[in-house]
Amino acid sequence: MPINVTAKKNGPYIVSGDLSQLALTDPEGNKYDIAGKQAIALCRCGGSVNKPFCDGTHSKLGFQAAEAAVKQQG
Ligand code: FES
Repeated sequence: MPINVTAKKNGPYIVSGDLSQLALTDPEGNKYDIAGKQAIALCRCGGSVNKPFCDGTHSKLGFQAAEAAVKQQG
């Protein structure tokens, strides 16, 4: 199963699929433990206190994202 990333409406990126093939690391290359997870939610509002994971703060902040895919012209 391929890894899929979905931008949730005014919320996090949901990463799902075979996460055993995914390496999620901090800037120093240390891996986050996502073993056994079926999916993870990555913060894109900047407000989570548990980055890079979403902790639901986007709802409190009223985060609004431009999540629609836009086709390129030409
Ligand atoms: S997207 Fe959920 S806390 Fe940032």
